[in-house]
Amino acid sequence: MWSMLRGSLVVFILIFSWVSHGSASVTYDKRSFIINGQRKILISGSIHYPRSTPEMWPDLIQKAKDGGLDVIQTYVFWNGHEPSRGKYYFEGRYDLVRFIKVVQAAGLYVHLRIGPYICAEWNFGGFPVWLKYVPGIAFRTDNGPFKVAMQGFTQKIVDMMKSEKLFQPQGGPIIMSQIENEYGPVEYEIGAPGKAYTKWAAEMAVQLGTGVPWVMCKQEDAPDPVIDACNGFYCENFFPNKDYKPKMFTEAWTGWYTEFGGAIPNRPAEDLAYSVARFIQNRGSFINYYMYHGGTNFGRTAGGPFISTSYDYDAPIDEYGLPSEPKWGHLRDLHKAIKLCEPALVSADPTVTYLGTNLEAHVYKAKSGACAAFLANYDPKSSAKVTFGNTQYDLPPWSVSILPDCKNVVFNTARIGAQSSQMKMNPVSTFSWQSYNEETASAYTEDTTTMDGLLEQINITRDTTDYLWYMTEVHIKPDEGFLKTGQYPVLTVMSAGHALHVFINGQLSGTVYGELSNPKVTFSDNVKLTVGTNKISLLSVAMGLPNVGLHFETWNAGVLGPVTLKGLNEGTVDMSSWKWSYKIGLKGEALNLQAITGSSSDEWVEGSLLAQKQPLTWYKTTFNAPGGNDPLALDMSSMGKGQIWINGESIGRHWPAYTAHGNCNGCNYAGIFNDKKCQTGCGGPSQRWYHVPRSWLKPSGNQLIVFEELGGNPAGITLVKRTMDRVCADIFEGQPSLKNSQIIGSSKVNSLQSKAHLWCAPGLKISKIQFASFGVPQGTCGSFREGSCHAHKSYDALQRNCIGKQSCSVSVAPEVFGGDPCPGSMKKLSVEALCS
Ligand code: GAL
Repeated sequence: MWSMLRGSLVVFILIFSWVSHGSASVTYDKRSFIINGQRKILISGSIHYPRSTPEMWPDLIQKAKDGGLDVIQTYVFWNGHEPSRGKYYFEGRYDLVRFIKVVQAAGLYVHLRIGPYICAEWNFGGFPVWLKYVPGIAFRTDNGPFKVAMQGFTQKIVDMMKSEKLFQPQGGPIIMSQIENEYGPVEYEIGAPGKAYTKWAAEMAVQLGTGVPWVMCKQEDAPDPVIDACNGFYCENFFPNKDYKPKMFTEAWTGWYTEFGGAIPNRPAEDLAYSVARFIQNRGSFINYYMYHGGTNFGRTAGGPFISTSYDYDAPIDEYGLPSEPKWGHLRDLHKAIKLCEPALVSADPTVTYLGTNLEAHVYKAKSGACAAFLANYDPKSSAKVTFGNTQYDLPPWSVSILPDCKNVVFNTARIGAQSSQMKMNPVSTFSWQSYNEETASAYTEDTTTMDGLLEQINITRDTTDYLWYMTEVHIKPDEGFLKTGQYPVLTVMSAGHALHVFINGQLSGTVYGELSNPKVTFSDNVKLTVGTNKISLLSVAMGLPNVGLHFETWNAGVLGPVTLKGLNEGTVDMSSWKWSYKIGLKGEALNLQAITGSSSDEWVEGSLLAQKQPLTWYKTTFNAPGGNDPLALDMSSMGKGQIWINGESIGRHWPAYTAHGNCNGCNYAGIFNDKKCQTGCGGPSQRWYHVPRSWLKPSGNQLIVFEELGGNPAGITLVKRTMDRVCADIFEGQPSLKNSQIIGSSKVNSLQSKAHLWCAPGLKISKIQFASFGVPQGTCGSFREGSCHAHKSYDALQRNCIGKQSCSVSVAPEVFGGDPCPGSMKKLSVEALCS
C-alpha cells in the first residue's frame, strides 16, 4: 500500500515539476506526439548527412524548413563511422554531431534512425565489412556476436548524443530514434530466432534511456513502448499495434532510387501529395518523406549492387540541393494546409461520411470549435462534384481537398499552385588530358598471390577496392587442332558478379555485367590463343555490396567458377581447380594516382600519345573553378565505366555505358503508383551527370582523375553548371493559392483567389514570356500549346507584371486577360517564362 502511495507521489511530483518548469519531454498517444506538452502533427524529411557535404547542410536544412518541415530524419551510417573495428571516424561528411547541430540551429527536430542496419541503398546496408568476418556471426538474428556488436555501436551513438546534450529532454533536437529497420519481413521468414531478436533489440534500445520514444518501422509486433510504423508509397490504411500509439508514416517514398541499367523513376507531385493527405485525413500524425533530399552516393558508398552514384530519388530537393519544382512547392503548400488543420486534427476523432462511390469526407470537429475537413475522390479516372455542408465542391480524379475551416478549400492535391522549373546543364569547360596506361596484370608476378582454385572476392579484398584480378596461364601445344581450323576454343567463366573484364594476353576480349535483380554473370566466347603460354587475366569488379535480403552478408561476389575451355584436342578442360594468381586492386590504386600527391608519375602522357579509347586507362587534368554559385556536374556521356576523383575526393562510380531499360511512355498522376510507372531517360545512360560539390574545389589548379575500364573519349567530358533557365505555372481559375503568408488564420481563407506565381533563382530576372495562354491550353512545362480557347490578351498582363523582375504574380481571372474567351468552360492559365 505504502509503496503504491509512494508510487503515485513520485508520478505526481514528476508531473508537477514537468508542468511547473515546462521541462522538456516527448510523449505520445493515439492522436499525436506531444512535445513539451504540445500536440503536433509532424512533417519530417530524410536528409542523409554523408550524401551531401557539410557546406551544403545549412542550405538544405533551410530549404527543408521553408518547405514546411518540422523534423529531419537521418540514418546513422555505421560503416562510415567505424571503417575498421574500433577505429572511429566522425569528421567531414560523417560529422554526425555537426549535422544535428545544424538542424538544431535551424529550429527543427531530428528523428535519429540508428539502425544500425539501415538498408538505404547504402553499401552493405550500413554494416562495416569487418563485421562479416567476426567469428560465428550471423546478421540480424538471435546471434551472440551480432548482438554484442550491434549493442556496442548503438550505445556508442546514444552516449555521444547524450554527451552533446542532443536529446530533447536535455534541450536538444532529437525527439525520437529508431532501432533496426523493416525487420518485420525478416522475422516473418525466419520465425522464432527473429522474434527473440526483435524483443531483444527493443529492450536493448529502451534501456539506453534516451528519454525519447523509439520507433521500429515495418514491425507489426514492435514490443511496447516502441512504436511500429509504416513505409511505402501509401500508408493510409495502416494502424499501429496498440491504440495508444500514434500513427506514423516513417517512409513516404518521394520517388525511387536509380540503378545502373534502369531508367530514372519519378513520382508525380500530385500523387505524393494525395498519399500524404490520405494518411493525415485518416488519423496520421507523423509523416516523413524518404527522401526529402536524396543526394549522392559518393565514393564507393552505393549499395546494391548496381545502385547508381546519384541518389536523387526525385526528391523535393534535387541531388544538387535545388528545389525540384513543382514537387517542393506543391508539398510546401500541402504542409501549410495541414498546419491550418492541426488544432482540429490533434483534438478530435474523425467522422467519415461517404459522399458517393469512391468519395469520402473526413471531418475533425474539436470541442474548442476548430473544424477541419478532407474531401477525397479516390477514382483514378473521373472528377466529381460533391455536396458537403451546403456547398458544392469539384474534386479532380485521385485527389483530396483540404478545408481547414470545414468550408473553404485551401488546397487540392491534384491542383498544383507552385511553379515548375526546367533545369539545364550548361557546359562551362572541357579539359585537356594526360593518360596513364593501367597494365593488365598477369599470373605469378611478385605482386600476386597464387592459390589452388577460385576464391570469393570480398573475402579477399575485404571491400577495400572494387577490383580483383584472377589470373592463370594456358599452354597451347603446336599440335592443337584449332590452330589449323581457326576455330578458337571457347572460354566460359561463371561469376557470382558483378562485372567482369576478360583479358587474353593483355587484350580485352570481352566484358559482361549483371543487374540488380541478377548480379551473376557468365562470359562465354571464342578466345584467341596462340602456341606457347597464354595469359588469362580476369578483372572482376564489385559494384557495391548488397543492402537488403535474407542474410545478404552471405552473398558472394567474384569468379567462383566453373571456368572452362572448350575446343582443345582433349575436349573441354575445367580450369576451376587450377592454380590461380590473385591481385587485389589496380596498379593505379596502389600508386595512389587518385590522390592529390600520388598522381605525379613519369608515365603520364599527352598530345599524340594520349590513350584513345583504350580500356584500363587513367586520365588526369587540372582546371579552375567556374565562377558563381550554381551547382556543378561532370557530363560523362562520352565515357564507359569507372571511377572519378576531384582533389583526392571520390565523386563515385561512373557508368554511362550502361543504358537505361524501362518504360518511358509517360504517365498520369492518377491511379496507384509504383516505381516503374513514371520513368524517364530510357535508351540514354542511366546516369550521365555526376555531382561535383563546390566545396571540393579551390579557385584554381583542381585535379580531376578519371579511371576508365572500357574505353571512351575523355575529350567529350565537360564540366556543366546546373541552372534553372525557365519556369512555368499552370493554374486553374478558382484554384486556391497558398503562397507565402496569405493565410495566417482560417479567417483569411475567404479572401483567397487564384494566382500564378513565378520566380527565378536569386540573381536572375524574368526576361521573356515564352508562352502564355488563358483558356484551355494543352501540354506541360516546356511544351505548352494553345487549345481550342485562348484569350488574346494572355501575354499582356504577364509581360507587364513580370518582365525584369525576379518574381511576380498574376491573378487567374478573365478580366485580367481582356474578358472570358469561353464562358462555361473550365479555364486555366499556362505560362512559361525565361530567366536570365
Ligand atoms: C525501404 C528501406 C529504405 C530504403 C527504401 C528504398 O524499404 O527502409 O532504407 O532502402 O526501402 O529506397
